[in-house]
Amino acid sequence: MGLFITFEGSEGCGKSTQSRLLHEHLRAAGYNTIHVREPGGTPIGDQIRAVVLGMNNTEMDPTAESLLFSASRAQLVNQIIRPQLAADGIVICDRYADSTYAYQGYGLGRNLADLRTVTAIATGGLAPDVTIWLRIDPAIGLQRKQTAAGELEWNRLDAHELSFHQRVAEGYQDLATAEPHRWVNCDAGLSIAVLATHIRTTLAPHLDKVPRRAIPVNERTTL
Ligand code: TYD
Repeated sequence: MGLFITFEGSEGCGKSTQSRLLHEHLRAAGYNTIHVREPGGTPIGDQIRAVVLGMNNTEMDPTAESLLFSASRAQLVNQIIRPQLAADGIVICDRYADSTYAYQGYGLGRNLADLRTVTAIATGGLAPDVTIWLRIDPAIGLQRKQTAAGELEWNRLDAHELSFHQRVAEGYQDLATAEPHRWVNCDAGLSIAVLATHIRTTLAPHLDKVPRRAIPVNERTTL
């Protein structure tokens, strides 16, 4: 059965850092956990990533773009995510279908019902158990990402105008409001450590259903 956790949010919200910290924490606590990102997460998905995010692909058609994100997702779900969940493991995924609704739906104005249909085909209906949303003002997030250039990859989607990113943020708000039981709304402006603790505390009840192995004393860490 396992546990499927996704991280969502606008550019520069700190998802990669927080999802990695959570993964390391859960692994140190004895859980069988994997950490993947979208687009990508598989050798085939990484090739799709290079195409869909490539700065030179300025001619990308929005429908082609939506389908490429979904193709990468189908590969990841079937090759990695489903087997891990079937083994009672935890999956931590940096972005998932909600990114398609927020970016291609709200951001680019693609039809949301169509995107949901394509997503259902790509994922076989697999939805996250919990979605951690790191909420940030898009203008601040983009600035953070630009300042961190070199550490964070600047991609074709980042290069959209601010109004696009504002629509994406509104999309996240709508998606979270529509499914409050799944979404955890976090303030990305908190310090890294405070946010990490908040995320762990929020997830604690969900972990009850996931088995963990006994950790030999010499492998224990205080993470
Ligand atoms: P990435 O460098 O991983 O950015 P981030 O650190 O913000 O996650 O690039 C992923 C980019 O792809 C990001 O701009 C959001 C975009 N994206 C979509 O537009 N639709 C999608 O379905 C997904 C998964 C990502």
